[in-house]
Amino acid sequence: MKQIGIGLAGFGTVGAGVFKHLVQNRDLLSQRLGLELAVRRIAVRDPRKPRAVSAPAENFTARWEDVVDDPAVQIVVELMGGIEQARALIVRAIEAGKMVVTGNKALLAEHGKEIFDLAAARQVPVFFEAAVAGGIPIIKAVRESFIGNHIVSVHGIINGTTNYILTRMTDAGLDYAAALAEAQAQGFAEADPTLDVNGWDAAHKAIILASLAYGTWICPGNVFVEGIEHLTARDIGFAKTLGYRIKLLGIIKCDAGGRIEVRVHPTLIPEKHVLASVNGVFNALCVRGDVVGETLFYGRGAGQDPTASAVIADLAEAATALDVKRRDCGFMPHGLYGESKPLDEIVCEYYLRIPVLDKPGVLSQVAGVLGATNIGISSMIQPESDGERTELVLMLHIATHAQVRDAMARITALGCVKGQPQLLRVEHFEG
Ligand code: HSE
Repeated sequence: MKQIGIGLAGFGTVGAGVFKHLVQNRDLLSQRLGLELAVRRIAVRDPRKPRAVSAPAENFTARWEDVVDDPAVQIVVELMGGIEQARALIVRAIEAGKMVVTGNKALLAEHGKEIFDLAAARQVPVFFEAAVAGGIPIIKAVRESFIGNHIVSVHGIINGTTNYILTRMTDAGLDYAAALAEAQAQGFAEADPTLDVNGWDAAHKAIILASLAYGTWICPGNVFVEGIEHLTARDIGFAKTLGYRIKLLGIIKCDAGGRIEVRVHPTLIPEKHVLASVNGVFNALCVRGDVVGETLFYGRGAGQDPTASAVIADLAEAATALDVKRRDCGFMPHGLYGESKPLDEIVCEYYLRIPVLDKPGVLSQVAGVLGATNIGISSMIQPESDGERTELVLMLHIATHAQVRDAMARITALGCVKGQPQLLRVEHFEG
């Protein structure tokens, strides 16, 4: 049977998982593909380090260049992470005419245009299923299964660490720090979970999905990103009382004028919506297309096996595409959609919790600011006061980010406001 030479750059959790499953499912893959996927070279920092998954010692090298330059390697798998070396490796592989498989979301979100311009110029496909939502085949779905659709919207829980933290805050009443510590102890959160909790891991994935959906690379500066670090058990509790769950949601939409909106933030979603019951480390995405209507994807967004499954799917596609000239090199740019929507013009509904003095006239001062900034109140609750202080919890009608920023500045400056107000966004999935 014809063999296809694979080079792995990176043999950490995912790289080792890819190797392990290529070996375990070798017969199945060979029967399905009519080809054998043979790992010929593996680049790691320290080739002599003992490893949980063993591979032939002669395959290992400490130089990633050896993987790309090896004439026996036809497909290069980049699983090193980081930006600069990974970028150099991918550019070198494309220039050598070798197809690339990568799971590097940060690299694609920041340098996707450059990489895919080069891929198109050299007619060398780059595959990246593992970059978004691990084992969920969302890239293939958006790129291929929905090729006949305008994508109306994508709503996704695309970070497992934060979903675990929010689930524990909701179900066990933990505060943020305790839930994060638990996620780390369970091995779900990285030792440095910064990119997870500040929203940027999800934002990188949202940028890739939005770019694919709308045929133009979205600039990270045009994405509204807010993390979960400031969430309190109190907000989770009020949201529950009001009939909502709080999820870190990636939201991708296009307005009637073709302007693209991408945002990632903690979001109140109705408790009856299917995404409200996606818990723990699971990811899920609702994709709405103008032809297909609403679709739902659910699965594990991280971890050795789910991510290896995505990489192997890309390897299979790359191997079968080796002798075929492809028009689509992984990303097809087109000019059918417009610019990114300015962040100030993004419109949504809001939850606002304001710590206030318990004195006559306080509610009217707050309502006065909202009225003056043309923001309507949809509902309000106020827990019983301790005699001195209380909180106003307001659900607000739609308003632009600019309107709300103005209102927040004025509310925070009121003498009756004692502490930092909490503003969260609400999503009702209308489109
Ligand atoms: N750290 C991510 C998560 C997986 O928790 O979902 C890699 O993007």
